[in-house]
Amino acid sequence: MIVLGIETSCDDTGVALYETQRGLLAHALHSQTQVHAEYGGVIPELASRDHLRKMLPLIKTVLAGTQLKISDIDGIAYTKGPGLMGALLVGSAFAKTFGLLWEVPVVGVHHLEGHLLAPMLEKNPPSFPFIALLVSGGHTMLISVKGLGQYKILGETLDDAAGEAFDKVGKLLGLPYPGGALLSEMAKRGESKRFHFPRPMTDRPGLDFSFSGLKTFALNTFKMTEHDDQGKADIARAFEDAVVDTLLIKCKRAIIQTKINRLVVAGGVGANQPLREALKNMSEKMGVELYFPRLEFCTDNGAMIAYAGHERLMAGEREEGLDLDPIARWGLGA
Ligand code: KG4
Ligand code: ZN
Repeated sequence: MIVLGIETSCDDTGVALYETQRGLLAHALHSQTQVHAEYGGVIPELASRDHLRKMLPLIKTVLAGTQLKISDIDGIAYTKGPGLMGALLVGSAFAKTFGLLWEVPVVGVHHLEGHLLAPMLEKNPPSFPFIALLVSGGHTMLISVKGLGQYKILGETLDDAAGEAFDKVGKLLGLPYPGGALLSEMAKRGESKRFHFPRPMTDRPGLDFSFSGLKTFALNTFKMTEHDDQGKADIARAFEDAVVDTLLIKCKRAIIQTKINRLVVAGGVGANQPLREALKNMSEKMGVELYFPRLEFCTDNGAMIAYAGHERLMAGEREEGLDLDPIARWGLGA
């Protein structure tokens, strides 16, 4: 079965083709970072318009790369939510229209399920069950994954997501949006011992997170520090150390509590190198199997949606009807 995957939940237009036997055949991504950069955040209306403009050219690109024809496509998977309503509507309108025209089944995929299953696209995929640390711009969660659709949230952020905190502190330090990766670059030049930021909610039991206090801590430190390159780099370093350490402590706790010794890291912040290093060290010490999607599949992409949709279509799931009913706010497992 060949599945066309479509991702339009936020500011990346992603398209991919996944096949049962050969796996991922092709994928293409258009990032809207440039479109939103000058506003310091994603502007929903601009996001929708850009998805609309880029969808057909991207589909043409992936088809051309594989020599496949439209008639070879057996099913369509699109991101049904959560995300920006206008952006989701673009993807669902394309998906349902293609389904009708090409007479193939359509399935709506939960964006977070896409992220959780992204490591399945790699050569050495994890088997079930595993713990997933999902760290993106919109989410910070620890989830126990027993199988397709069997997700239990062990803990999540009570306020800001880790990526959101990276972006807000990045903005404070004068970096363009989204500042996560640039902040991490800046932190390399920072002195780790100059400032010590708290590790929020690690002194009490449980697996929830909170990152908004760290953002305030960064702001207060910033006010007391000279705003030269070194001062900024030192703050970036202290902030990144605190986020990485906090995520590490909670992952360790989740592994011990659930006795599941397989950890999958997904979402944009999963691209963070110090986090990867820290989790690698911990996993080696604890005998835990650790899985990362490749860097380009950590952030939003069409491949993860094609994969998740393929699994669901193979299991017989179908979205009947032509209603456009994306779900902007949608809990995982609900
Ligand atoms: O998964 P994603 O593409 O979007 C959401 O669905 O939210 O994640 C984007 C987030 C942004 O907040 C971005 O700043 C952050 O991931 N990010 C990073 C790094 N690369 C991306 N944060 C820290 N270090 C990085 N290297
Ligand atoms: Zn995402």
